[in-house]
Amino acid sequence: MRWVAIEKHQIKDVELQLITVEGKKICLVKYNSEYFATAAKCPHAGADISQGWCENGFLVCPFHRYKYNLETGRGIIGQGDYIEIYPIKESKDQLLIGVKENWWKRIFGS
Ligand code: FES
Repeated sequence: MRWVAIEKHQIKDVELQLITVEGKKICLVKYNSEYFATAAKCPHAGADISQGWCENGFLVCPFHRYKYNLETGRGIIGQGDYIEIYPIKESKDQLLIGVKENWWKRIFGS
């Protein structure tokens, strides 16, 4: 796991936004003053989930309104799917997002 720092002044103060971390598209969520980081691509049919909204602790996809738990990534009962959740730490000026390291990058570089 590698922690990637994002300066808070570089992100918008909105509920959902699409950011790129280590070349990976991530949906950054600010919900009830707490940050979450999820995969940006909806597993149902590939929509950009950062165009959706939050509701009762769930991230709602704008295409077909599938819902994913912000903390676990699990879809609601009956969906049978999930989105990846990235660990996130917050400090005064930064967000740290945990991304898996690619073993080939460690060995061969980018
Ligand atoms: S593409 Fe997200 S619910 Fe269908």
